[in-house]
Amino acid sequence: METEMRASRNGRINIVLQDTLSQTERKRSAGFNNQFKQIEEAFNSFVGVKQIKTTIKQIYATVLINEKRKEAGLSSNQQVLHMLFKGNPGTGKTTLARRLAKLYVDLGILSKGHFIEAERADLVGEYIGQTAQKTRALIEKAMGGILFIDEAYSLARGGEKDFGKEAIDTLVKHMEDGHKDFILILAGYPSEMGRFLSTNPGLESRFPFILDFPDYKLEELMEIAHQMVRLREYQLTMEADRKLRDYLYHQLATKGRHFANARSVRNLMEKAIRLQAYRLVQTENYQPERLMEITAADIKFENE
Ligand SMILES: Nc1ncnc2c1ncn2[C@@H]1O[C@H](COP(=O)(O)OP(=O)(O)O)[C@@H](O)[C@H]1O
Ligand SMILES: [Mg+2]
Repeated sequence: METEMRASRNGRINIVLQDTLSQTERKRSAGFNNQFKQIEEAFNSFVGVKQIKTTIKQIYATVLINEKRKEAGLSSNQQVLHMLFKGNPGTGKTTLARRLAKLYVDLGILSKGHFIEAERADLVGEYIGQTAQKTRALIEKAMGGILFIDEAYSLARGGEKDFGKEAIDTLVKHMEDGHKDFILILAGYPSEMGRFLSTNPGLESRFPFILDFPDYKLEELMEIAHQMVRLREYQLTMEADRKLRDYLYHQLATKGRHFANARSVRNLMEKAIRLQAYRLVQTENYQPERLMEITAADIKFENE
């Protein structure tokens, strides 16, 4: 089949069909466009993260073109899809990885699409030989899905003699095994990840996709807050909006130590819903408008 990829004005990649296509080929190509749409839909509820969405589409395009090349008898590379996620807490790393697992199954990239979240204790054992065994077992379990290791640098914590090194070596050995149907994602704080990679040379090159999860800006956090309450059929009053905005502005300006981006926003909104319920029960006011409304009184911070 002859297809041509063209970047359109809006930056999207369009697959342009040649006139010679048969009916079935046409249908299939429509399917590919649908799958691009599917990607957009899967990530629609995710505020911001434009760069990440673009990377995912590029990955999909690469996988697809590799298939096409194979069909055409051209050489095709086995696409390695392991990834590094760098970002502060609450920037959406875990949530995105979970969605990727699902999406990759829909796109036929992974066979099962289950998601296994692991940390140091799940990989590292207490005696010689145990670590390799534990790590291998975990990889086995992750076959067909995604193995997500949070705070990956903790594997390198103890230096040369630490068993964490054995876990890293075992992971590396298995990720090289190109035919294996699993994706490894290592995640963590940007600075620690940077140090981890620099002390384990050769590691970075095994991860073709390095995704940065920047801290959210004020407007993005506000959009996330509004979206979170909207999904639950609530809305913030103007005063509630202003109170939240002032607080977030202050947190961003002072880089509050416990401020965790979208996670903090989620916690605040969940608390607001509880406080609203308590307030309404006390006043016995159950009008539909009141049931939906989150007021400034419901927005309370740690220190209040
Ligand atoms: N871009 C976003 N849009 C909407 N909600 C988000 C976004 N990023 C994060 N969240 C929400 O914030 C919370 C924390 O995200 P999480 O994926 O656990 O962050 P991390 O793993 O980076 O610490 C989750 O409830 C998630 O749904
Ligand atoms: Mg996380």
